[in-house]
Amino acid sequence: MSEQQNRYWTLDDIPWDQFDPSKVDPEMMRIVKAAAMVEFNGYTYAEYLCSVFNDDPAFQDAARRWALEEVQHGKALARWAQIADPEFDFDARFADFSEKIQLPVAAEESVRGTRCGELVARCMVEVGTSSYYTALREATDEPVLGAICEKIAQDEIRHYKLFYTHMERYRHIEQLGKIKRLMVGVGRIGESEDDELAYAYYAANNNGEPYDRKRCIRAYMSCAYGFYQTHHVERAVTLIFKAIGFSPHGRLANMIARMACWFLNFRSGPDEHAPA
Ligand SMILES: [Fe+2]
Ligand SMILES: [Fe+2]
Repeated sequence: MSEQQNRYWTLDDIPWDQFDPSKVDPEMMRIVKAAAMVEFNGYTYAEYLCSVFNDDPAFQDAARRWALEEVQHGKALARWAQIADPEFDFDARFADFSEKIQLPVAAEESVRGTRCGELVARCMVEVGTSSYYTALREATDEPVLGAICEKIAQDEIRHYKLFYTHMERYRHIEQLGKIKRLMVGVGRIGESEDDELAYAYYAANNNGEPYDRKRCIRAYMSCAYGFYQTHHVERAVTLIFKAIGFSPHGRLANMIARMACWFLNFRSGPDEHAPA
């Protein structure tokens, strides 16, 4: 089967000729450039997954197909950013990013401790990205970016289902209970403010100034979180609760959704939006 047949869409399905420069939001462009870096790194993450699941060829195959789609997300976002900002040199910026952000590609054990834990973390990331691109699609008036975000958000939710299916399999094999899955989940939320996103934001947008992790993550969060609305957060919490094994529509889920909304609101306050 060819690469193209494996995918639900290609870059040729994007209506590039509808690009409207007057509708480009410069703040959104900064986070789109950063997202392109992280997405384009998908093959490296697949290498890590294949190493962790070294005796599971069915999962390895799924992970490689998943990576093709993630890399395509990176290509689509990078192409859009280059149309919006012809001076944006994606290749040079990505080279900087991939040199700095190194994943443990030869790890024989998941950094989350168990395979089920790894899959819970993957579910969370896919829920996060699906909500993120849905929020961007609803916030942008630029038609090409809107079309890209719509297609990516659909892929991300399929990715969630893919990892959820494998997670269920390993949950039975490894007997990983709710509390352990919850711990993985909490740990993964902490990682959302780690170097990968901060450096992606810096690599994509810096003008030669030195890297300041705290400042970059603040700038990234204050911009990215501002696009989320309550319904994006509620949906994300529902899917994450399902992956962890808690009732997705219970009182606890409602409370966490409210707290998450408050946190996103708090973190999306005014900031200099500069990587410097
Ligand atoms: Fe993606
Ligand atoms: Fe994904």
